[in-house]
Amino acid sequence: MHIAIIMDGNGRWASQRGLPRTAGHRAGAKAVDKIVEAAARSGIDTLSLYAFSADNWHRPRAEVGALFTLLRRYLLTETKRCVEKSIRINVVGRRDRLAPPVLRTIEHSERSTAHCTGMNLRIAVDYSAQHSLLESCRLMAAEGRVDRARFKEHLAAIDHSATVPANVDLLIRTGGEKRLSDFLLWECAYAELYFVDSFWPDFDGNAFALALEEYGKRERRYGNIRVSEQHIARAGHG
Ligand code: IPE
Ligand code: IPE
Ligand code: MG
Repeated sequence: MHIAIIMDGNGRWASQRGLPRTAGHRAGAKAVDKIVEAAARSGIDTLSLYAFSADNWHRPRAEVGALFTLLRRYLLTETKRCVEKSIRINVVGRRDRLAPPVLRTIEHSERSTAHCTGMNLRIAVDYSAQHSLLESCRLMAAEGRVDRARFKEHLAAIDHSATVPANVDLLIRTGGEKRLSDFLLWECAYAELYFVDSFWPDFDGNAFALALEEYGKRERRYGNIRVSEQHIARAGHG
């Protein structure tokens, strides 16, 4: 099972408390710890977290700086714990615009956890699905043929993803907005969408369990008719 999360609402969480937005991001980083743990415990194969979108570069310099400081701190402190829990870290997105120390930290975390066979923890940084799709198209065009499997290989390479794109089963967005904000557009083709009003720093193991429970109630049809109706149709009563 592949769960993707758009971790939104840090800024509003902070301003509700009269705190600067960066305090919200710090609280958000703590929520990441809890959810990674909850996901690993629930036996989730892949958890993709949207940490920084390509459009987030438009934010004030100080906020961008704070976000990258938090990302580095997270990777530096959590890598060891991920090794212990056999969680493989993979940072997906562009790398050509990252500061060298950030890049080095990412590479260190990925190398240190490359052998881990438990949950895949994918952290999207400087990520834009439209950018990745366009770049993959560019590579396909250069090869002169269009092939789905090859396209997915290109997409993985562009995203620095350790695996070819896996369909998202459940996409969670906190913070009340109901949009995808350029996250995993290809992978979410048949994703179940789950929007929750609570801000990301307040999203805890309980809230995560509720999302899983709701997912369990959804019937995924992939364009087909309901499973119960398939039986009827096969028996010739349809
Ligand atoms: C999500 O929270 C964190 C990032 C986008 C990095 P926001 O910072 O977008 O919080 P709001 O949406 O302004 O409340
Ligand atoms: C999406 O949140 C990006 C991340 C959570 C990293 P944003 O807050 O940037 O998205 P918009 O601006 O509300 O669409
Ligand atoms: Mg936001």
